[in-house]
Amino acid sequence: MRIIQIILFLLAFIATFASATIQIIYPSAQYYLVAGQANEVLWTKEITDTTAFSIFLINSKIVDLKEFALANNVDPRLNKTDVLIGQNLVNTGFQIIFTDIGNITNIYATSEPFEIKPNGTAPIAYVTPTPTPTGTSNSPSVDTSKKSSSNSIHNYGFGTLVLITLLTIILF
Ligand SMILES: *[C@@H]1O[C@H](CO)[C@@H](O)[C@H](O)[C@H]1NC(C)=O
Ligand SMILES: *[C@@H]1O[C@H](CO)[C@@H](O)[C@H](O)[C@H]1NC(C)=O
Ligand SMILES: *[C@@H]1O[C@H](CO)[C@@H](O)[C@H](O)[C@H]1NC(C)=O
Repeated sequence: MRIIQIILFLLAFIATFASATIQIIYPSAQYYLVAGQANEVLWTKEITDTTAFSIFLINSKIVDLKEFALANNVDPRLNKTDVLIGQNLVNTGFQIIFTDIGNITNIYATSEPFEIKPNGTAPIAYVTPTPTPTGTSNSPSVDTSKKSSSNSIHNYGFGTLVLITLLTIILF
């Protein structure tokens, strides 16, 4: 009986920390956007998650920009989406953030800083990242671990609840 409890405890422990993360691949320091047209945003995630998010453009150098809405209610399972970049948004130091659709302060992922180039600039040729999680190959695949910081899309509430419940069962 105790063994089963310990196994359940370990499973709950793993579930708590095996939470999905989203990483923004494009745009990045390497992949600029072009003003006045639709641009592709691409992300990866480690575990299937269906929590929709909003996409905002931010740039601390442009005070008036604040959080410029690019997309709303995006399904993470799409892996990518096109966003329209305004004609006048030409500068460096932009970032995009993926946020809770109801609460912009709850940020799921932040891109690297990137540049938006003037309309007419040739769009960048994207390299589609290949799923090589081992990191031992020398292929020119995109190393997602360096592309962006990311935050967990889950809150840890459920896993923590399970953990506490199981601890209670074991101890009493
Ligand atoms: C998103 O990526 C996952 C993992 O690479 C893949 O299984 C899935 O089919 C992709 N979704 C779409 C809509 O392309
Ligand atoms: C929005 O999210 C932040 C951070 O997660 C939280 O502190 C705040 O209470 C939330 N606001 C609302 C209205 O839910
Ligand atoms: C941006 O450039 C494209 C051609 O590259 C042109 O068709 C389009 O009208 C331009 N957009 C604006 C808002 O000028």
